[in-house]
Amino acid sequence: MAWNSLVCGDKLTNWLTLVQPLCTRPRPHCEPMNNSADSGLSATGTPARTAVSVRNASVIYQTADAPVHALCDIDFDIAEGEFVALIGPSGCGKTTLMRVIADLEKISAGQVLVNGVSPAEARMARAYGYVFQAPALFPWRTVLANVTLPLQIQGKGKADAKRIALEHLQRVELKGFEGKYPWQLSGGMQQRVSIARALSFEPKILMMDEPFGALDEITRDRLNEQLQQLWQRERRTVVFVTHSIAEAVYLSTKIVVMSPRPGRIVKVIDSTLPNERHLGLRDTPEFMALAHEVREALADGHGG
Ligand SMILES: Nc1ncnc2c1ncn2[C@@H]1O[C@H](COP(=O)(O)OP(=O)(O)OP(=O)(O)O)[C@@H](O)[C@H]1O
Ligand SMILES: [Mg+2]
Repeated sequence: MAWNSLVCGDKLTNWLTLVQPLCTRPRPHCEPMNNSADSGLSATGTPARTAVSVRNASVIYQTADAPVHALCDIDFDIAEGEFVALIGPSGCGKTTLMRVIADLEKISAGQVLVNGVSPAEARMARAYGYVFQAPALFPWRTVLANVTLPLQIQGKGKADAKRIALEHLQRVELKGFEGKYPWQLSGGMQQRVSIARALSFEPKILMMDEPFGALDEITRDRLNEQLQQLWQRERRTVVFVTHSIAEAVYLSTKIVVMSPRPGRIVKVIDSTLPNERHLGLRDTPEFMALAHEVREALADGHGG
């Protein structure tokens, strides 16, 4: 595998933007970490808090020829512990919306709050773990050294960082591969390293931008299943971009369907599937009905 397919400069810069404030800025007082594993309820049994609130948000990119209206009046909420899929045609603004939430892009109008504070404050508070479409790993560092990097930047001691990294590698079923280099792994394994790295500093929100888009169907199924199990265990808030209706329906508790550019929300579909999921669920009438609803919403977005 070529080195430049592992390290994309732009993605690494973005990744460092999300990680670096850890060592340079104190953690602002926002909301306490809460990784309680329950369905829609906080540890005290009260309804889950809002993790992300987007109000009438628009993004217009200023370009040399003409402004590009990427997002228009986006309005939705994500509760803590939800798994939200963003689905829509290419160029409809899914990545832009992810970047806005993670403070990698500014909105032109509207408001975005993450855990009740601005995305910039949430970033400083280490709210985000970000998994990009390409793994963006450092090829000259071993798997272990890639996962310990954000922890070291954060100021963790070597032994601590190693322990935490090994724990997270085990969670994504990569125990035994810690001494390998990224280029010695398959694409799916590299993505799992990225997921372990994103989870290693316990972010409140896991942002995943088409993480499995480039993988074959069998590997993708397996990773979908692993991600689903991981979410079951941790109930971390996840925002997940995909082009696959089946992936969106299988993984998420809420599906946000977007229209072609300028991206608008066509429909927000709350999943009726049980929380415990296995791949066989995809053959059930309930799953197919949801997939049909998503397909119809996508067609509506196209004006068809
Ligand atoms: N930095 C930028 N400058 C100018 N235009 C941009 C920029 N980034 C994105 N765009 C434009 O904004 C629109 C939305 O792009 P975005 O990458 O968010 O789409 P997407 O839904 O993620 O697409 P895909 O599914 O292909 O990844 C596109 O028309 C794109 O050309
Ligand atoms: Mg995109």
